[in-house]
Amino acid sequence: MNILFTVAEVAPYSKAGGLGDVAGSLPKELAKAGYALQVISPLYKVVRGDNRVFRETGMSGFVRMGGKSHPYRVVALKPDPGYPLEYLFVANDFFFDREGIYTRSDGEGYPDNNTRFFFFQYVIIDLIVKGHLQPEIIHLNDHHTALIALMLKVRNIKLPTILTVHNFQYQGNFQEEDMALFAEKDAQAVRDLYAPDTHYFNALQIGLLTAGRINTVSPTYARELLSDDGLSYGLSETLKSIRSKFHGILNGVDYDLWNPAKDPYLTVHYNSSELAGKAVNKKILQENCGISVRAGTPLIGSVSRLVESKGFDLILGIIDDLMELKVQMVFLGTGSIEIEKALGAVAAKYPRRIAFRSHYSEKLAHLIEAGSDMFLMPSRFEPCGLNQIYSLKYGTIPIVHKTGGLADTIRDWDGISGNGFVFDRYDRQALLTTVKRALETYAQQELWEKLMRQAMDADFSWYRSAREYRRLYQALIGKDLEYEVS
Ligand code: ADP
Ligand code: GLC
Repeated sequence: MNILFTVAEVAPYSKAGGLGDVAGSLPKELAKAGYALQVISPLYKVVRGDNRVFRETGMSGFVRMGGKSHPYRVVALKPDPGYPLEYLFVANDFFFDREGIYTRSDGEGYPDNNTRFFFFQYVIIDLIVKGHLQPEIIHLNDHHTALIALMLKVRNIKLPTILTVHNFQYQGNFQEEDMALFAEKDAQAVRDLYAPDTHYFNALQIGLLTAGRINTVSPTYARELLSDDGLSYGLSETLKSIRSKFHGILNGVDYDLWNPAKDPYLTVHYNSSELAGKAVNKKILQENCGISVRAGTPLIGSVSRLVESKGFDLILGIIDDLMELKVQMVFLGTGSIEIEKALGAVAAKYPRRIAFRSHYSEKLAHLIEAGSDMFLMPSRFEPCGLNQIYSLKYGTIPIVHKTGGLADTIRDWDGISGNGFVFDRYDRQALLTTVKRALETYAQQELWEKLMRQAMDADFSWYRSAREYRRLYQALIGKDLEYEVS
């Protein structure tokens, strides 16, 4: 089966969050299972790198948008000769040769993001129309590529589509005037989906209405979206209307990258039967972040986009209480200026106990996973979440809110079974009580090591979830009409 996986970011070449991780790992797993797969994504400056060498594919052309003609070229990359798939990158320096993927260095989104991703989608359509790409199925991801389902229909191209929604908060809103960039037949098809007096549209909603199958990235988030109208940010009616083609499939992990036994970013490795290396990583982390080097002080880590939904209101609301519990904390993240300021302020108030690094660093992200004792992820909602799953493998015990993918991966420790600490009600007191519970267990070293080993033995490799995607693909091309998932 020949699949085209379309996505706005792909690790390790471009990554702003978990979407990049999934695009870097799921296609690889599917290709290993024998699928002929191509991943297509924009050629940003970070992808180009300093001296990365690409293969010229000879595929090129022009896309007309709003009366202007924009050129494109497609280059290819295979990480090594034996790698099971090839990455295709769409080059257009005007749209993509910029410092950021979605945002400027001050964190503001590029004002022409809609145009940039409309362009990317029209390039994919052009490549298919010209026969340069001949997939049997197109796998769309998030709003950046969700319009492709409608564009194919308008052109009468009968290619099955699956749309994976990684987060319903980000929808790709656009207005009537943006539609001047569309081919008239696409603009008309969009208008036909909406009531006559509508002036605001959204790419994700259009994708939900037009793609063959839809899934999101955990079964619990899928269920929550259907029962809690607020979670889908205005799309609850649409979601309910398509619920028969809507599924939840949990993300997996690439353990070649996220595994303390062979993590390429770590200098000292460890595993569940040889834990000594973890203490060394803790010391390196403490030194690296300028907090006191203390082996016995519990160290709580956090690596996160700094957005409201990740639970920083709870964390910041109890920070003084946490400090009274004699813990250390290390935060790595970028995003909202307010959250950055607030974390900067608490780090300044407790310089030997709290460190905050406000940049993007893959190396430090891995070191935080390896060197922390606990990982804090009290998200208000979480479609899947990858860091808590990575944390398990590093024996870094997650403290999470029971929601979405966090609920599907972390089971509360009851003294015998479980792999983390979970709180139900989203409030400060519940988080504080849960951190206290974690610290009580931490104080009993033997018990804590048992918990660590249990967490490290967890297996969230892609194998199982990739099988679910394969079944969805088969359902789409009519080979498995019985397909049903929760
Ligand atoms: P989301 O996709 O909502 O951001 P996930 O938990 O699925 O949440 O994935 C986040 C990914 O982004 C993880 O791989 C995490 O390590 C990474 N990440 C987030 N912020 C940073 C940062 N400042 N530096 C390095 N990696 C980061
Ligand atoms: C989104 C979600 C996150 C998920 C990731 C990968 O960014 O916020 O929960 O893990 O996508 O699917």
